[in-house]
Formats: sequence, C-alpha cells, structure tokens
Amino acid sequence: ISDPREEQKRLAAIEAASMVRDGMVVGLGSGTTSAYMIDELGRRWAEGLRFSAIPTSERSAEQARSHGIKLVTFASHPQIDLDIDGADEVEMGTLNLIKGRGGALFREKIVAAASRRFVVVVDESKLVRRLGHHMPVPVEVTTFGWELTATRLRDLGARPTLRLDQHGTPFCTDGGNLILDCNFGEIADSVALARKIRAIVGVIESGLFIGRTSEVIVAGQDGLKHLMA
Ligand code: A5P
Repeated sequence: ISDPREEQKRLAAIEAASMVRDGMVVGLGSGTTSAYMIDELGRRWAEGLRFSAIPTSERSAEQARSHGIKLVTFASHPQIDLDIDGADEVEMGTLNLIKGRGGALFREKIVAAASRRFVVVVDESKLVRRLGHHMPVPVEVTTFGWELTATRLRDLGARPTLRLDQHGTPFCTDGGNLILDCNFGEIADSVALARKIRAIVGVIESGLFIGRTSEVIVAGQDGLKHLMA
C-alpha cells in the first residue's frame, strides 16, 4: 500500500486481529480499517485459526463469508469475547468515540455492548482532544417523522443534515432507517449529550460511544500505541 495512512490502518488492524484466539466469539466491525482486520482474520482462518464471528454490517458479513469465516448470531452466542472495530474520532482523555461514518453505528453499538472487550483500531489522525472536532455525530432515526426528529436535534444545538447516498437519495441503513449527521462543534459534555439525543422520540441510536472502549490501537509514524481505558 503506497498511502502511508492506509498502511498505518492496516498495521493497527493486523495487530488487533492477532488478539483473536481459537474458540473465541468475535465482533467484526465495519469500515475500511475493519476491512483490513477481516482480511487478516481470513488469512489466519486459512491457516487453521477457528472462531465464531458476529458482523456489524451486511458488508462485513459478506467479506467474512468470502473468507469462509463462520458467522453466528446472538441466538446461539449471546456473549462476545472480543469486538474489534474502527472509529471516526477517539477522545484522548476518555477513549469515548464518534462512530457511524459508514452508517453501521446501530449494529456496531449492539455488538460492542454485548462484548467483554471492545478494541478500537485507528490511525493517529482520528485522535482528538474533544469529540466533534472534525466530525458530526451521526444519528440513526426512523423514516417516519424524521423532519420532526431533526427539529428536536436542532433544539439541542445541532446542525443536522440528512445523509444522502451517491445517487443523491436518502442513505438507508442496514436496518432501513435514515441518518442525520449532526454537527455540534466540539462537544464539552459528550455523556450528557448522548443521553439527551437518546431521549428524543424517533432516535434509534447516536454514534456517540460512551464508556464502551477497553483499548485503542493507534497507528502512527512512530509505530503502534495501545491506549487502555
Ligand atoms: C461505520 O459505521 C463506522 O462506525 C466505522 O467504524 C468508522 O466510520 C471507521 O471507518 P474507517 O475505518 O473507514 O475510517
């Protein structure tokens, strides 16, 4: 890979994949960094590593299937040992996250919440002093009444925009819902904000991941760093 940032993401993803052991139940994240992780797990699967996986998106499911990785559901595997996923921003002091640029935030949060360990993989450009520095907070909302939900989010100080796909039509999540990208600027109290967003009728989940991270693997020019919660 010639792009140094892509190479950093790949190295961090490989490091995270090396944490998977035989017999584990593993959450497979979504996004470009997670895609490197799934490819590496596919390589290890081909070498004989055996684990069960719960994917956080249709896309990750398809990628895992293409490697022959065994996919399971919560019906048979209600507890995940290790969930590995990317993030859009990581707050350095708290390891709280913004996720959802790929639109998979709801499934990602369900899987993270069911996991004993949640390991986040990023390149150093994702580290911020305060969430909201570069990224809006994606909020998954129901189709019915989304305009009203947007107004309620505006009341919380956001500038929400309805996410569109590449054809200019509303982006539809794996669950059939919409995403409002909510620009709050830098967020002083992400714990309170996450709670207030969740309390709005019509909101399914927000991309604020609070108090869920066990560890962050950061790849930078000087190699890999592990940030522990
Ligand atoms: C998917 O919905 C997101 O939460 C991703 O985990 C996040 O956007 C990171 O993606 P990249 O690894 O592509 O930056």
